[in-house]
Amino acid sequence: MISPSSRFILERLIDPGLADTLADDVRRGLFSVPKRLPPKHLYDAEGSRLFEEICTLEEYYPTRTETALLARIANELIDTVRPATLVEMGSGSATKTRLLLDAMARLERPATYVPVDIDESVLAAAAPGLLETYPLLSVRALLADFERPLHQLPRGRGVLVAFLGGTIGNLEESDARAFLARLARAVGPGASLLLGIDRVKQVQRLQAAYDDARGVTARFNLNLLRVLNRRLGADFLLEDFRHRALYDPAAQQVEMHLVAQRSLVVRLRELDRVARFQAGESVRTEISRKFTSDTARALIDGTGWHIERLFDAPGPDFSLIWASAGPGLEDRSRADLASPTSFP
Ligand code: AVJ
Repeated sequence: MISPSSRFILERLIDPGLADTLADDVRRGLFSVPKRLPPKHLYDAEGSRLFEEICTLEEYYPTRTETALLARIANELIDTVRPATLVEMGSGSATKTRLLLDAMARLERPATYVPVDIDESVLAAAAPGLLETYPLLSVRALLADFERPLHQLPRGRGVLVAFLGGTIGNLEESDARAFLARLARAVGPGASLLLGIDRVKQVQRLQAAYDDARGVTARFNLNLLRVLNRRLGADFLLEDFRHRALYDPAAQQVEMHLVAQRSLVVRLRELDRVARFQAGESVRTEISRKFTSDTARALIDGTGWHIERLFDAPGPDFSLIWASAGPGLEDRSRADLASPTSFP
């Protein structure tokens, strides 16, 4: 057997800490009305750890629902796609990934796992266990912000990209569609996508999932202020802010906010600026969009992905969409004879 260390490489496509885009995002987001910051900055090592804890909460249904669905479909999907390479966007602890890797191991061929995450700590932590479990697997971890160029991704028919958890819902419709289109171009015709999307459901269940009784999601959200303190020399006091999560039925999205409890002036040393908050003013730190089967199809249509199948968990509380880049599987043999596929 080839030694585990020779089967692992980590490529840093962004500087650890993302200090540059954080500064820009804060300049743009904390000095405008309404205030908002992109959710990617929630995931420093502590944020990733808190997110893992969220995944174990009774109220947070997406993780266990998607896991059960994945367990149900993994073998069929892998036997049809027969991927040699599994790419995972926002891989985190790669727990659910094992269901896909188990199914791939049944093919008894060498395989590559390409986890892509913005937090280096999770990439380093997940690899050893995977290398131990899967002797035919190599891991090429990419430290990357997937809102940036994706040209380092492997391409073609042997590639399956997993984007799980409903994380696509963190992006506004136009950003999500632009991302899917870039992804289709990056992995090229014949590659496959497994996309997790959270479904519209009862308001109470959605709000409880993002405002749990033990306050783990509140700590996850408030940790963003620690990130700003550490990376930008800010002087936020966490007790000056409260976590708030609300579902907006018209927009079909949960919004997380940090709400100032009094009027405040916060210094951001590295930016050489002060940010002012009125009492009750909030920073929106995340949107998490929820879909119907129609809005899910509309999200994907015209982005270069052809939907092969939609798998629903009971409810449906959560769905997995299997799609192919370029023409669908059925049309592919015909398309192979014609000119190369072009993308919008
Ligand atoms: C990791 C983006 C899928 O939107 O549900 C969990 C993040 N935020 N609780 C989500 C999150 C608050 C989560 N994703």
